[in-house]
Amino acid sequence: MPGTKRAFYRSLERLQTDYLDLYLIHQPYSDVHGSWRAMEDLYREGVIKAIGVSNFSPAQLADLMTFNSIAPMVNQVETHPFCQQWQATDFMQQHQITIEAWAPFAEGKNDIFTQPLLVSLAQRYHKSVAQIILRWLLQRNVVVIPKSVNPQRIAENFSVFDFSLTEQDMATIATLDLGKPLIANHADPERIKFIGTRRFAT
Ligand SMILES: NC(=O)c1ccc[n+]([C@@H]2O[C@H](COP(=O)([O-])OP(=O)(O)OC[C@H]3O[C@@H](n4cnc5c(N)ncnc54)[C@H](OP(=O)(O)O)[C@@H]3O)[C@@H](O)[C@H]2O)c1
Repeated sequence: MPGTKRAFYRSLERLQTDYLDLYLIHQPYSDVHGSWRAMEDLYREGVIKAIGVSNFSPAQLADLMTFNSIAPMVNQVETHPFCQQWQATDFMQQHQITIEAWAPFAEGKNDIFTQPLLVSLAQRYHKSVAQIILRWLLQRNVVVIPKSVNPQRIAENFSVFDFSLTEQDMATIATLDLGKPLIANHADPERIKFIGTRRFAT
């Protein structure tokens, strides 16, 4: 059995389930077309309900879509106020690929939780900075997957459906964009070489 399918069935065993809701290719390297075709088979068999990718640029998405039969349903990419992904979001939304933000809080980097503009919005809306960020992403139709180990913060992160940011406030947050990744640059050749040294067993 090819590596992708073997890895998938091992995951099912470990999770003690007989299907997965969503399965992603984590990074756009090596034999992504081979993995994708295996995932297409698993999707057609009904053992995965949605298939997608992560950290793919628009060009890499176009490559995958052009030379295969099923387009990715999700692309999970670094997206937060310092890396806003506007161009990539437009491409994904035009092609019905759901954008999912990883590290919506930039993993706390750049003092995001005390960033003055975000703090002033939080005070005005009587919300936390985390809630302002999540609301801003949701209003852009970006799916969010914030991580917290703290039950109070998990509840806080869900409580973002009782207010809306104005267009003007959305535009103000847009000014924080640095236009490049803060955490992981998947186009960096050195990163690709590094990942290549860490071969995962399948
Ligand atoms: N596809 C990929 O390549 C990729 C790469 C990285 C991450 N991810 C995924 O993305 C998800 C989230 O990303 P992440 O964990 O890297 O970063 P993140 O969600 O941006 O930040 C997590 C940090 O924010 C803190 N936090 C959470 N809620 C908060 C709140 N309401 N107020 C203040 N602090 C808060 C957490 O601390 P506490 O836990 O102490 O609350 C944690 O330190 C994870 O599921 C991860 O697996 C995917």
